[in-house]
Amino acid sequence: NGLGDAILHAEHLIKDEAFAIILADDLIINNPSCINQLIAAYEDNQSSVIGLNEVPKNETEKYGIVSIEESSSTSNAFLLKDIIEKPKNNAPSNLAVVGRYILSSKIFKYLRNLEPSVGNEVQLTDAIRLMLKDEKVMGYMYEGIKFDCGSKHGYVNAIRHLAEEIFDE
Ligand code: G1P
Repeated sequence: NGLGDAILHAEHLIKDEAFAIILADDLIINNPSCINQLIAAYEDNQSSVIGLNEVPKNETEKYGIVSIEESSSTSNAFLLKDIIEKPKNNAPSNLAVVGRYILSSKIFKYLRNLEPSVGNEVQLTDAIRLMLKDEKVMGYMYEGIKFDCGSKHGYVNAIRHLAEEIFDE
């Protein structure tokens, strides 16, 4: 029933620790890895952290989109003001959520009572939206190359990129 529902099924494994979510269709290449960059930001800020990247304005309806506190930047980390799943119009920015999150286990409290929304799915984004009204949630502009392996184009490009790296060795 959607990403939010999938995460809720893992609640019994998490207990009261912060935890990482990696959506495998977003392949991000860098060293340190995107998730390690987010873990470092979590340790610096002691709050949930969501990976962000810029997307063209006409693609905002494909992603979770955030608005940030402009003055809150410490390095690549920004305080989130709001987040909305796949806005049809009036996207608050062109900063999109990538499939990398470090979330406080408090997220389960918000997930438990959610109704399905966009695409008739239980959206993790909706739970994050509720959580950021009660506690700090940061967005982090990660460094690295991203391939959207949920599209044929992105998947083929990822294979080509990694194959070239191997052949260049
Ligand atoms: C999911 C999230 C969305 C995020 C995206 C990143 O959407 O719901 O907020 O921007 O992953 O890949 P999906 O791609 O599963 O539709």
